[in-house]
Amino acid sequence: MTTMLTTWKEPGHVTMGAASTKLAQTGSLLDAIEAGLTAAEDDPELIAIGRGSLPNSDGELELDASVMRGDNLDAGAVCAMRGIFPAISVARKVMETTPHVMLAGDQARRFAIQHGFVPENLVTEEVCRRYREYLVSPERAKAYVHTAQDNRQDPPHDTVTMLGLQDGKFVAASSTSGMPFKIPGRVGDSPIVGAGIYADDEAGAAGATGLGEELWKACASFRAVQNLARGMSAQEACDEVARHMRRRQTKCHEIPCVVLALDKNGGFGAALTTGEFDLWVWRDGDLECHHYTQVQD
Ligand code: GLY
Repeated sequence: MTTMLTTWKEPGHVTMGAASTKLAQTGSLLDAIEAGLTAAEDDPELIAIGRGSLPNSDGELELDASVMRGDNLDAGAVCAMRGIFPAISVARKVMETTPHVMLAGDQARRFAIQHGFVPENLVTEEVCRRYREYLVSPERAKAYVHTAQDNRQDPPHDTVTMLGLQDGKFVAASSTSGMPFKIPGRVGDSPIVGAGIYADDEAGAAGATGLGEELWKACASFRAVQNLARGMSAQEACDEVARHMRRRQTKCHEIPCVVLALDKNGGFGAALTTGEFDLWVWRDGDLECHHYTQVQD
């Protein structure tokens, strides 16, 4: 039996389509999750991941990605990497070909080029348009991205995180362009093992999406997996993290912080500190989308 989870309605749809196709071709969960995140990175309509995503305050895209295996706790990540697609594949390459966990910035880019990735311009016309809007009205541009409450029809987007379980083995992975219009060099939770992702075959897997600073401070993914190890269900594990964050971290009352988890029986859950969230669940060919609202305190 194989179960895969992925975050947010629009990117999740793209991600799960590619992941399930790859799983059918190769049977490999790791390949499937890499393919899912690659498809999302390649879609310029998705403004929080890969090509066409929102830039930093200099107008440049800086990408973060990570992957972790639950069987041996191997992990790989890149952060603040410019002009390389797909970032998730570079993270996997770090995991599989180096003794390290993370490479950063220009040196992550150099490593990618040394391993055959071709540098490219991931900034689209739409990125330039949104950046010009940001330069005119920075606060309005940031507020729109975080709340999607103005009258434009674009859906909100965020980091794409995937979890998978196949024959008792877990994989967790994430890819993002991070916080829109961030200070150059800022890194969020997504490439940080324990914050944005965690996987341990002895307990389960967890991931995060939303306001990276707060998720990182909470070690949200590790905390959720620790909850699984103590015997909580996936939903209970996520609820505990979201409640703890709401109690201790007031910033997560304003901007959603989401944690999702998958347990050893294929049970899944998600919880968030505010707002709304959609989680796609794929299980042996059946696909469902589950809607979540703010955790009860
Ligand atoms: N969760 C993505 C970020 O804050 O960078």
